[in-house]
Amino acid sequence: EFDQDEIICDDLTLYEYFNAVLINEMDEEGRSLELGGEFILQPNEHFNNLSVNLSLSVVQVPTNMYNKDSAIVNGVYWSEALNKVFVDNFKRDSTLIWQYFGSAKGFFRQYPGIKWTPDEHGVLEFDCRNRKWYIQAATSPKDVVILVDVSGSMKGLRLTIARQTVSSILDTLGDDDFFNIIAYNEELHYVEPCLNGTLVQADVTNKDHFRDRLDKLFAKGIGMLDVALTEAFELLSNFNETGRGSVCSQAIMLVTDGAVETYDAVFAQYNWPDRKVRVFPYLIGRESAFADNLKWMACANKGYFTQISTLADVQENVMEYLHVLSRPKVIDREHDMVWTEAYVDNTLEDAQGPVLMTTVAMPVFSTKNETRNKGILLGVVGTDVPVSEILKAIPKYKLGIYGYAFAITNNGYILTHPDLQPLVMYRL
Ligand SMILES: *[C@@H]1O[C@H](CO)[C@@H](O)[C@H](O)[C@H]1NC(C)=O
Ligand SMILES: *[C@@H]1O[C@H](CO)[C@@H](O)[C@H](O)[C@H]1NC(C)=O
Ligand SMILES: *[C@@H]1O[C@H](CO)[C@@H](O)[C@H](O)[C@H]1NC(C)=O
Ligand SMILES: *[C@@H]1O[C@H](CO)[C@@H](O)[C@H](O)[C@H]1NC(C)=O
Ligand SMILES: *[C@@H]1O[C@H](CO)[C@@H](O)[C@H](O)[C@H]1NC(C)=O
Repeated sequence: EFDQDEIICDDLTLYEYFNAVLINEMDEEGRSLELGGEFILQPNEHFNNLSVNLSLSVVQVPTNMYNKDSAIVNGVYWSEALNKVFVDNFKRDSTLIWQYFGSAKGFFRQYPGIKWTPDEHGVLEFDCRNRKWYIQAATSPKDVVILVDVSGSMKGLRLTIARQTVSSILDTLGDDDFFNIIAYNEELHYVEPCLNGTLVQADVTNKDHFRDRLDKLFAKGIGMLDVALTEAFELLSNFNETGRGSVCSQAIMLVTDGAVETYDAVFAQYNWPDRKVRVFPYLIGRESAFADNLKWMACANKGYFTQISTLADVQENVMEYLHVLSRPKVIDREHDMVWTEAYVDNTLEDAQGPVLMTTVAMPVFSTKNETRNKGILLGVVGTDVPVSEILKAIPKYKLGIYGYAFAITNNGYILTHPDLQPLVMYRL
């Protein structure tokens, strides 16, 4: 917990931090870059001989964000206090590997410090807020129905932005979440007709499948939003009755270029006065003639209104809803720890082959009295744990001759099993 979140320092424009990409880089005249500078790195056996700096962390900022943005610089500044925490943790427990803080503003502070290299186009896609550990720790499990307007006015760029918006929403869903996507004009089109009338788990396979289907959407006709909203509420309510979903948190994401009215009749029938289902409208395009209706729908249903005018806006704007959904967690001060499934960390491969890891993460809240009831999530802290460390807690002699240990996560993924042979090489 931090109470230093909103230090407003006048002179942060002069403040420099070690940017993971810019450290140890020179311009043509051999001078260090701004936010770069000399950063001493030494190969370290505990980190598989990677060159690291054990006294300082580095900060990574996604390529599409301005790395001197005042919100980022402010956050980087107060999170500097973590350097000492990281170093002390490592001194206390030498089995620790990476320790990090992913900020809700988008920057990522990693200890020990290490240099990051962008791809050949100078791009570094990594955004900590899209990582499984971040999403799982920041939000509670949720059921989500995504409604996409495919009426005639959505033709062209708007449909492209809408697809990208839906795809970004999918990025923010994880294994604890359930979802479905319905496109609407004067008819309803389940994006995957076989899954008509139900919600599916937001695992990687299902999300990829739905993403592929999004390419097949085309725009024509007129949009009947009342029919679509009715279907979404029915779907969520029926699904809740099955007891398979999240039980407590349900949302409708509405991706459209406008709403001609506010559909009070539908909300009155399905959602008021309890307002258990939150509604998040995304207004696509530059026009704001219909913004008021959508804003009203968001406010009347405990959601959040966002306008997305260009493709470049998509990711940042989609993430806004996560703050709203994490609010109840912040206010109730839930400090749930989450564990991800086992994955292969290809930077730490050793002589015995790939190293299986799991990530443990926890949300970080603002504890300032003035802002506490606003439920401000500052970010998520996490650390990677080799599965072999967990196995040490289960000594062989206690299991007996034919005994063996295995572990699965609450989502049914294998954490460890003697026969687990990792084939896919990826980092979560
Ligand atoms: C980490 O980098 C800083 C800045 O270059 C340097 O002053 C410090 O000595 C380095 N620490 C270690 C343990 O190498
Ligand atoms: C790291 O380097 C040392 C010395 O070069 C070598 O003995 C050791 O095997 C290396 N460790 C790993 C994990 O590669
Ligand atoms: C869903 O399936 C039912 C029964 O198969 C069918 O009657 C209904 O029209 C379908 N709805 C949509 C929106 O495809
Ligand atoms: C889902 O059902 C449970 C149990 O009937 C109820 O307590 C809960 O409020 C429902 N959730 C929503 C979002 O309607
Ligand atoms: C914050 O609120 C708590 C409980 O309401 C109170 O005990 C505490 O004194 C407050 N702290 C400040 C700095 O106002």
